[in-house]
Amino acid sequence: MGKSWWWVIAALFMVALQQIAEGYQQLPCYFIFGDSLADNGNNNFLDTLAKVNYAPYGIDFPFGPTGRFTNGRTTVDVIAELLGFQNFIPPFATASGTDILFGVNYASGSAGIRNETGQQLGERVPLDMQLEHHQTTILDLVDILGTTWATEWYLSRCLYSVGMGNNDYLNNYFLPEYYNTSKEYTLQQFTQLLIQQYTQQLKTLYDYGARKIALFGVGQIGCTPGSIEKYGTNGSTCVEIMEEASQLFNKKLKSVVEELNANLTDAKFIYINYYAIGADSSVLNFKDSSSGCCPVAIDGECIANQIPCKNRTEFAFWDSYHPTEAVNKFIGERSYSALEPSDAYPFDISHLVLLNLQDAAYK
Ligand SMILES: *[C@@H]1O[C@H](CO)[C@@H](O)[C@H](O)[C@H]1NC(C)=O
Ligand SMILES: *[C@@H]1O[C@H](CO)[C@@H](O)[C@H](O)[C@H]1NC(C)=O
Ligand SMILES: *[C@@H]1O[C@H](CO)[C@@H](O)[C@H](O)[C@H]1NC(C)=O
Ligand SMILES: *[C@@H]1O[C@H](CO)[C@@H](O)[C@H](O)[C@H]1NC(C)=O
Ligand SMILES: *[C@@H]1O[C@H](CO)[C@@H](O)[C@H](O)[C@H]1NC(C)=O
Repeated sequence: MGKSWWWVIAALFMVALQQIAEGYQQLPCYFIFGDSLADNGNNNFLDTLAKVNYAPYGIDFPFGPTGRFTNGRTTVDVIAELLGFQNFIPPFATASGTDILFGVNYASGSAGIRNETGQQLGERVPLDMQLEHHQTTILDLVDILGTTWATEWYLSRCLYSVGMGNNDYLNNYFLPEYYNTSKEYTLQQFTQLLIQQYTQQLKTLYDYGARKIALFGVGQIGCTPGSIEKYGTNGSTCVEIMEEASQLFNKKLKSVVEELNANLTDAKFIYINYYAIGADSSVLNFKDSSSGCCPVAIDGECIANQIPCKNRTEFAFWDSYHPTEAVNKFIGERSYSALEPSDAYPFDISHLVLLNLQDAAYK
């Protein structure tokens, strides 16, 4: 115990003052786990095809191409803004010093719940490793805040979001040319395995002090221009088997939320219906949802330095797999403040941040 107690109080006081000075930040910190839908630069430093730190990515983002897989802000960027953060949550790859007091983004394009997911594209940070990265952040926080108990106290007040599973289907189960999972397991069995592993990972996150946790379900993976081009739809609107996978996963995930809330009574997990909110974004009347806004290469990512569509708000997809900022904004807003009862379960992020769980945790 190198530092004395008054230093801890002083540090927390300074953080509180900083928040007040900067406006209405509703929580001290926001930690983000996920895949390319949330990656904000972690893959830039990896040897992988799944990195996009080049134009035209970021064409509508204040800092240009940052590694975000879209033209502007991601869904978690929008959520951070709604929570009152003055800056975007920094990527783990470059976060340093006291930046981490506001949270860290560990998300990695092509990554999954399973370690091997996405390996055909190169390096990535699977969820197990994202959790290891979070452990190193916690050690750094102990250095800043002085003691373990102050750090626990701090971490219990943050928001956490996790969005995983998309790549375990897109870049694993449905790629039999690279992965054996579809030969070894039925879709039911594979989904059950994913959910079991994910549940353990979420419990680890809880063990690391997370108490307010929002989980994004899998999106409409069968309706992306990339999936439709690759697999065909056999007369349907989307690739049916992939839509089935997504719905199966999401149904089970919602049950996991129920169980975790029943078992871990000093924490609250919520389920965000990313699939349904994403589907509802059609109310934005996109001119085109069948192809992305930018000219793409064979892997579905934008070709570097090609001119994208003029008006990005007319498109649902930016490249062959990733939504435009317009969709991200729509999903972020409804995750934060639900419009339909089915958007979030048991309630939305705005209610999660208001919860006072501390009486239960520190009695
Ligand atoms: C995945 O990799 C991590 C190393 O980052 C390892 O600790 C973990 O045991 C692996 N998980 C599985 C299920 O093999
Ligand atoms: C997949 O199965 C083939 C044939 O059974 C085997 O040779 C290969 O090593 C397996 N690949 C993986 C990644 O398990
Ligand atoms: C395509 O649809 C037809 C009619 O619904 C069905 O009989 C057939 O099995 C489907 N083919 C594939 C590859 O899904
Ligand atoms: C919750 O607790 C019950 C009873 O101990 C157990 O059977 C179940 O596996 C637990 N669920 C989770 C998600 O931890
Ligand atoms: C872009 O498209 C949106 C939606 O169709 C429309 O409201 C807006 O006026 C367009 N903007 C420009 C600059 O054309």
